[in-house]
Amino acid sequence: MYPERVGDQPAILNGTPLRSGKSWPPWPQWDDSERQLLGEVLESGAWSTAHGDQASRWAAEFAQLQGARHGLALTNGTQTMEAALAACDIGQGDEVIVPGLTFVATATAALAVNATPVLVDVDADSLCLDVAAAEAALSERTRAIVPVHVGGTTCDMDALRELCDRRELALIEDCAHAQGTRWRGRGAGSIGEFGSFSFESHKLMTAGEGGALTTGDDGLRARAWSYVNCGRVEGEHWYHHATYGPNLRMTEWQGAILRAQLRRFPAQHRTREERGALLDAELAKIPGIRPQASDPRTDSRARYCYVFHYDAGEFAGLPLAGFEQALTAEGVEVGVSYPSLNNLELFREGRFGPRLREAAPRIDYAAISLPRAEAAAASTVWLAHPMLLAEPEEVLDIVRAVSRIQANAAAIARRIERAGALGPRLATAARRTAGRLKALAAPASPPGPRRP
Ligand SMILES: Cc1ncc(COP(=O)(O)O)c(C=O)c1O
Repeated sequence: MYPERVGDQPAILNGTPLRSGKSWPPWPQWDDSERQLLGEVLESGAWSTAHGDQASRWAAEFAQLQGARHGLALTNGTQTMEAALAACDIGQGDEVIVPGLTFVATATAALAVNATPVLVDVDADSLCLDVAAAEAALSERTRAIVPVHVGGTTCDMDALRELCDRRELALIEDCAHAQGTRWRGRGAGSIGEFGSFSFESHKLMTAGEGGALTTGDDGLRARAWSYVNCGRVEGEHWYHHATYGPNLRMTEWQGAILRAQLRRFPAQHRTREERGALLDAELAKIPGIRPQASDPRTDSRARYCYVFHYDAGEFAGLPLAGFEQALTAEGVEVGVSYPSLNNLELFREGRFGPRLREAAPRIDYAAISLPRAEAAAASTVWLAHPMLLAEPEEVLDIVRAVSRIQANAAAIARRIERAGALGPRLATAARRTAGRLKALAAPASPPGPRRP
C-alpha cells in the first residue's frame, strides 16, 4: 500500500526508523490563554473554589459541552465516581456492576463507598461493557451499573438506559475517555444519573489532575455537592455539616487551566475524529489489524487512545509485545492495554484494606474468568492520542509502520525467537531507538509516560 517505505528494513532490525527526524504533537498543549487565566487566579488571591469561580464556571461550561444541566469540579476522575455512588446512597451490602476491561478506578470507586464491585465481561469488538452480561450479573443487591466509554466509544446506551430504568438501578457513566463523545446526539455523561470525567495529564483536556461530575438531576447535584464539600449544605453556614463527606474540591488553578483547555477542545476533537476515521479506514486494509468497533449511534467519538485488535497469526506469529516493540522502534507512540481487572492482585487476593469487612458480600474474584476482556488485554494495541493531532500524511506513518512490520514479520519473529532469553535485550534496543528518535526531534514539551 505504501511501497516506498514498506520494503525498507524495520527499525527493530537496525533499519532507519520511519519517524526519524520527525516529532509528534506534544501533550499537554498550552499557550497564553492558560498563562493569562492562571495569572488572574494568582492576582485575585482566590485560590480555592470556596472563594473563586474559575472551577465552577469551567464545570458549568464543560457540562454544557456534554449536554448536561449541571457540572461539578472535583479532584480527579476516581473520586468523581465515589461521589456519584455516595450521592446515589450506595454503600455497604450493595453491588455495583463494572466492566472487566478498564482502569482500576472504575472498580475501586465502589470499594471507596464500601460497596462490592461485580466484574462483568466486555464486547469483544468495541471493548465496552456487554449489556447482556451486565443483565445476567444482576442480583437483588445490585444498585448501579458503571459502563466505561473505552477509548471514547460507548456500549448500547439505549439498551443500558432501558435496563437501568426497568430494574431501578443508577447508571453512572465512566466518561474518563469520552470528552466530546455523543450517543445519538446526546453527550456522554448526560444519559446516566451521573457522568464522571477525568482530567489527569494524559486526558483529552487536562490540568494535570482533575475531575468533573455531570448530572441532569437537581437533587442528585445537591447531594453530590454536599458529599464533595464535607457534608455541607450549599448556601448554609460553612460549619453546618449535615452528612458525612470528604473534601473533594478542585483548585482554582485547575479550573483556570481547564477553561483555557476547553476553548481549544472543539477544534482538537474534530481533528482527532478525522484522523481516527482515516486510521480506521487504512488500518482495516491490513490483514490481521481490526480497529476497535464503534456503534454507529456513537455519532461523535472522542479518541482517547487509538485502539486496534492485533492478530499475530497474520504477522508470522510475532507476539503482541514484539509487534509493540517494533512499532515503538519506528517512532510510533505505543501505550499498553489495561489488564482484565480479575487478574489484578488487588482482586485475586481481595486486598481491600479496611473495606468490605465481615458483613459485606465478598466475591472470589480469583474464580472469575472474563474471556473477552482477558483476550482483549492480550491482543489490543493502544496508541497515544496526541499523534491524532498531526497532519494526515504524518498519521499515515502509523499505517506505514504497521505495513513495514508485517512485510518483515517473519524476520522480526525469528529474531525474537532466537533472542529467547535475550528478549529483554531486544526491548532495550527498541527503547534505545525510541530514545534516539526523541533526541533527534525533541518536542517542545516532553510527552511524559504514556498510559491509556
Ligand atoms: C476509565 C478510567 N476511569 C477512571 C479514571 C480515573 O481518573 P483519575 O486518574 O483522574 O482519578 C481513569 C484515568 O486515569 C480512566 O482511564
